[in-house]
Amino acid sequence: MLATRIDIVETTRSKTVQMLNDRLADGIELMLQAKQAHWNLRGRGFFALHKLFDEVTAGISEHVDTIAERIAQLGGHAEGTSWIVSERSQIEEYPREIVDCTDHLSALSTAIACFTKSCRESIRVCEDYEDKVTEDIMVSATRAMDKYLWLVESNLPVKETARKQVLSEVKR
Ligand SMILES: [Fe+2]
Repeated sequence: MLATRIDIVETTRSKTVQMLNDRLADGIELMLQAKQAHWNLRGRGFFALHKLFDEVTAGISEHVDTIAERIAQLGGHAEGTSWIVSERSQIEEYPREIVDCTDHLSALSTAIACFTKSCRESIRVCEDYEDKVTEDIMVSATRAMDKYLWLVESNLPVKETARKQVLSEVKR
């Protein structure tokens, strides 16, 4: 850890940096997966999804940068190379051969949900460390990921059970 005049003790900074480096790896992996989907999908709805996946990549990229810069502010070393990311990320490998829009929507939804879950857990970690600023960064990342999950997932075909449920509620 680098010396800094920030008013947070080194033990807390060090633990926060470790957590943030985990989220950094997940964020970079997710960004690459959204780009993979952007390049390779085919089928009905291609253009809208092609654009949506690029929007998702750009949105995640902003949060990745904020997380990396917070690591630096805390005196840590941001670890964002592809070598480190492949070792550290908790997100499953993106399926290599998928083409169909629905398969990409499903794979990307799973990846976003994984990142969202770990971001939400990180909020609780920040609460324990009483670091409101890092907590705010994680809240903001989680809020954005919840929105991206909704935007991506909503393009998936509605399952028959969910459709019936909605129809029965409409009839009531
Ligand atoms: Fe592109």
